[in-house]
Amino acid sequence: MKQERWRDYLDCVGELLAAPQVQAMKDIRHHPGVSCFEHSLFVSYVAFRLARRWGKDGRAAARAGLLHDLYLYDPRSLPSYKQCFAHPLAAERNARALCGGLTREEENGILAHMWPMARRAPHSRTAAAVCLADKLCATAEVLGIWRRTALYRAACLPGPPSVETR
Ligand SMILES: [Fe+2]
Ligand SMILES: [Fe+2]
Repeated sequence: MKQERWRDYLDCVGELLAAPQVQAMKDIRHHPGVSCFEHSLFVSYVAFRLARRWGKDGRAAARAGLLHDLYLYDPRSLPSYKQCFAHPLAAERNARALCGGLTREEENGILAHMWPMARRAPHSRTAAAVCLADKLCATAEVLGIWRRTALYRAACLPGPPSVETR
């Protein structure tokens, strides 16, 4: 992972990463062996990269990606079909309260991330980046790829971030 790109990413989400609500996702299991925080960080970074590659708003994609699963309850408390539709609404409500408001792209990125399972669709490439990143990252997590990524080593292991300098 390039240091410059990692700094650009942290410029977008640095203060959100430190927020207690975002840190609280570390205590919520999302996929086997992967916390909601790890999944959200993964989605955020991949959405940031996709949106940038498409010439779109990397900041909105990074922020919506980090907050897209900020539902902050035990997902096992709801049947899975209900959780599928309910959690984007809870995440959007919590994200709006945390940020004191959301841009239209951030809001749509959060609310539409379950498309096409849920009916609300992304209206911009930035929101589409979050939706696509969610699927890619969930697949990588289930296949056990997440812990082998440079992002995991940089952001989730103790010690200074292990980023390349060139
Ligand atoms: Fe989700
Ligand atoms: Fe997700």
